[in-house]
Amino acid sequence: MVKRLHGYICLLALFTCAAPALGAGFHPVHAKKAMVVSVHEVASRVGAGIMKAGGNAVDAAVATGFALAVVHPAAGNLGGGGFMLFRKANGEAHFLDFREKAPEAATANMYLDANGNVIPGMSTIGYKAIGVPGSVAGFVYAEKKWGKLTLAQVMAPAIRLARDGVVLTHAEAQMMRDPLLAKFPETYRIFQRNGKLYEQGELFKQPELARTLERIAKNPDTFYRGAMARQLAADIQRGGGIITAKDLADYKVVDRRPLRGTYRGYEIISAPPPSSGGAVLIEILNILEGYDMASFGRNSAEAIHLTAEAERRAFYDRAEFMGDPDFSNVPIAQLTDKKYAAEWRESIDPDHATPSNELKRPSFDGLDRLAALHKPYIGPEPDHTTHYSVVDPEGNAVSVTYTLNDSFGSRVTATGLGFLLNDEMDDFASKPGVPNMYGLIQGKANAIGPGHRPLSAMTPTMVTRDGKLYMVLGSPGGPTIITTVLNTLMNVIDYRVDIQRAVDSARFHHQWMPDELRVEAWQLSPDTMKMLEKMGYKLRHTGSWGDGECIMIDPKTGERLGASDSRNNGKAVGY
Ligand code: DON
Repeated sequence: MVKRLHGYICLLALFTCAAPALGAGFHPVHAKKAMVVSVHEVASRVGAGIMKAGGNAVDAAVATGFALAVVHPAAGNLGGGGFMLFRKANGEAHFLDFREKAPEAATANMYLDANGNVIPGMSTIGYKAIGVPGSVAGFVYAEKKWGKLTLAQVMAPAIRLARDGVVLTHAEAQMMRDPLLAKFPETYRIFQRNGKLYEQGELFKQPELARTLERIAKNPDTFYRGAMARQLAADIQRGGGIITAKDLADYKVVDRRPLRGTYRGYEIISAPPPSSGGAVLIEILNILEGYDMASFGRNSAEAIHLTAEAERRAFYDRAEFMGDPDFSNVPIAQLTDKKYAAEWRESIDPDHATPSNELKRPSFDGLDRLAALHKPYIGPEPDHTTHYSVVDPEGNAVSVTYTLNDSFGSRVTATGLGFLLNDEMDDFASKPGVPNMYGLIQGKANAIGPGHRPLSAMTPTMVTRDGKLYMVLGSPGGPTIITTVLNTLMNVIDYRVDIQRAVDSARFHHQWMPDELRVEAWQLSPDTMKMLEKMGYKLRHTGSWGDGECIMIDPKTGERLGASDSRNNGKAVGY
């Protein structure tokens, strides 16, 4: 697919200190020193420009994150949360958890009516769906702790973009037509101009957001403890939400230890709980390591079958065991143990799909007994989030996935502050055993509780070889995030294609329940799909999903190879 050129001529003039490396589309973008890959060209340019001006990967990541909050408001955000995986060139790695938290007044039954039934839409749309946002705290923490520049320096491009405007592409203008945005007057005014809907090519200015960003740049504490916190809490409460100024004051990022695994001699560094991403990814890889995947051939029915069976088993475990590690015991060591994977492998029939309701978990380190305490959750997750990857000239790397959850989150815009608020509360179990808006049935480990973080599937990941950085990976897509990262990684390691082809390659996804194999049917041969059906799979043909925004380091030359998913309009920018 040929990518459309964005019409950002004036803004490019502002941020072109990093000249575009050529080769986007079917080949990775090559650069000698540094690379930023994100879903939006302007945001990638902001990050690359910051590094050219002397910033490191964290400065670039924070600048890109704030810029995406302006140019990609459906997912880039101040009012949401996410994760930043940071690996220094010397190998030290951090997983910054700035996931939203449930407010203090949140209760397990808050989305139920008097009869104990889930109230439709309550955890997804409007003020009650909002979790205490973490993105600003995350970016400020990262910048102060690991950045070389000042917060004001890395926020300056975002402030300019909000004040001077961005030219909308067709896709962006279409996205802003979401009818749910019209439900909230401030959102309707800003994103839909009170009914005079934006067209492609128009300049979209956000003066309130520019002012908010300026206030944060000057005094970051204002968002959680100052005038802005009071303004935000009062606004949410006026709308019927339960977040208080104290909830904001109490919000804390957590600098966690990343999860580590290995696959065929490569080291995998990925997301620990409260994301399920790293554990599920490593469990799948552990199961697949026992097969010579390369010998089956990329996207062959056999390779897809074995991969789907490994996914089915790891997602079954995810459903059973995972939640906020600060409040429940997530048996990570067992789930990511290679011996446990070997036992799961024994249950895979090489010729037939295992029906999900016939899976029998191997008895391993008490996992089967633990399982009796949990209730599973099932189903697909919602559809919007964004990922970006950064590598700087020293070899420091950052992998960020952050989100409002659904596209445009709760659709609520903070009055006078110009930013959207998340609906991350929907990632919790509204009621164990009852599907939420996206078909999720969730268990006790992920119940709503004051101060809890909802379980995530976001999977910012890095791969190293002999202690050297090899890949920076990630994607949006709810549970498909995990399989998109898996698929990209295996395309490089097992099937030896370059990072751009790996990102663009056919996707397939199994998440245990519903018991179906989701496939990008337009990318697979009908013969392969027929063979999978014969093996017992129920195929769900869908369009494309995910948005891999990834980097690989050429082990021979050290070149940074940027790959932006050809399914979308992102861009790899390096120098
Ligand atoms: O944290 C999670 O797993 C979800 N809130 C992510 C949602 C998502 O990726 C939707 N994307 N397309």
